[in-house]
Amino acid sequence: MTAQTPDISKLYDTVLILDFGSQYSHLITRRIREVGVYCELLPCTQKISELHFKPKGVILSGSPYSVYDTDAPHVDPAVFDLGVPILGICYGLQEITWVNGGKVAPCDHREYGHAMLNIVKHDEHPFVDRLFNTLEGEMQVWMSHGDQLSEPPMGYRVIGRTNTAPYAAIANEERHIFGIQFHPEVTHTPQGKVLLKNFVIDVCECEANWTMESFIDKEIERIRRVVGPTAQVVGAVSGGVDSTVAAKLMTEAIGDRFHAILVDNGVMRLNECQNVKAILSEHLGINLKVVDAADLFLGKLKGVTDPEKKRKIIGNTFIEVFESEAATLDTDFETIGKGKIEFLLQGTLYPDVIESISFKGPSATIKTHHNVGGLLDDMKLKLIEPLRELFKDEVRSLGKVMGIDDELVWRHPFPGPGIAIRILGEVTPSQVEIARLADHIYIEEIKKADLYRKTSQAFAALLPIKSVGVMGDKRTYEQVIVLRAVETSDFMTADWYPMPYDVIKKISSRIINEVKGVNRVVYDVSSKPPSTIEWE
Ligand code: XMP
Repeated sequence: MTAQTPDISKLYDTVLILDFGSQYSHLITRRIREVGVYCELLPCTQKISELHFKPKGVILSGSPYSVYDTDAPHVDPAVFDLGVPILGICYGLQEITWVNGGKVAPCDHREYGHAMLNIVKHDEHPFVDRLFNTLEGEMQVWMSHGDQLSEPPMGYRVIGRTNTAPYAAIANEERHIFGIQFHPEVTHTPQGKVLLKNFVIDVCECEANWTMESFIDKEIERIRRVVGPTAQVVGAVSGGVDSTVAAKLMTEAIGDRFHAILVDNGVMRLNECQNVKAILSEHLGINLKVVDAADLFLGKLKGVTDPEKKRKIIGNTFIEVFESEAATLDTDFETIGKGKIEFLLQGTLYPDVIESISFKGPSATIKTHHNVGGLLDDMKLKLIEPLRELFKDEVRSLGKVMGIDDELVWRHPFPGPGIAIRILGEVTPSQVEIARLADHIYIEEIKKADLYRKTSQAFAALLPIKSVGVMGDKRTYEQVIVLRAVETSDFMTADWYPMPYDVIKKISSRIINEVKGVNRVVYDVSSKPPSTIEWE
């Protein structure tokens, strides 16, 4: 992932989270952002001398390792000389203990689940009480650990204990170091967010000024600085929330020097191209060029049934069309003496950045299907990624602040290869028509039933098999539509959505009556894994 690092961490009070590989590390980041404090997650191997900002506090995450493992990850000891407050969570606490001369030992049984923490206050040492400010007595916490402290390092006071963990929370008043055995970042610790807020606001004394309103101004200023006074920028838009928000930001920053390109690949949803054009161009004032390449894509897809081949054809054709459009624009600019296209806008989000900088290397789960992968190498453009610091929910808030309609802000994700991977078998114009209409009816009905926001992704897929039916007095032999709806937070795993029967009944009846060529509708009750969300 190439970096145009926004240096946002220099503009906001920033908390540094060092990741030791816990599955919950990104949740720490999210919780802290939720309380209005900017934070960045970096691998625990980060050299402190090479940090590009000075943090106001540091959090050490949990980890699947034991500190005594030969290959256990350890933090750069310079972190303890930064002179800023440190909070260790689970493994982070054990790392603090291990580095500072205390003892960590395996528990009799791995502790996993709820526990009650007794908060220990120290009236005569008010600083150590700051972590549990406003929290008193007992607190429900979530534990997930195989080791725990058997002896805290010198100079640490106990500020919390459970029945099985006498040193479940410790603090060093002089060095402003805290450690907790439990996980405040998970929702199973109901007051966890309060504790994290206490740490960043009361202990680190960060200003809670991370809001999307303030981000917009700073980001616009940064984009102007990076792009300069004459360069032009291109970017692909799809009508999805990420590319729309990124395009709107660029437009606010550099006006018509940003050129959005929407490629109609012939496998978008019903009326999608017209709708996206109306919203982006007319409503949001984005300088948009729509390229009708439907025939080109459908021609290349003729006779192709293999899902991966479909993806490749659509991806490569997209690159071909986009590059040719960008080259035409560039030539036009040259003719009229305008600046050259120097940048490519990409809607990369923070989870992609996190995945690419893990201390274990890019995770095996990283997506292999970025829509515009491959563009950059050929085009020799510099990448500009205004959303690379943001989580999806932050992108949505940003979209709302910038006046983008709720309808678009909350749009379900839609894959780059479009409904081509929702038409099993060959993608022909008539199959596209059937799949489009069925999908349109399905989405219309779940919106009417107020279920669209309750599902993370929903779509209709067209199966290449026919089954027998009867309509009026006539026997029919037609295709099957499958309805899919899932609930998920990360799209890596997903549960099928329990759609109410009356809603399915209405959808099924409408599809069979209104979509010619379909006589049967089924509902997909498979979770991911082992199934995937898409059918191809
Ligand atoms: P799967 O089917 O892998 O989908 O469970 C997970 C998420 O990724 C989307 N998806 C794609 N997005 N290009 C994309 O831009 C693709 O080739 C592609 N394949 C799957 C899918 O819609 C779901 O949100």
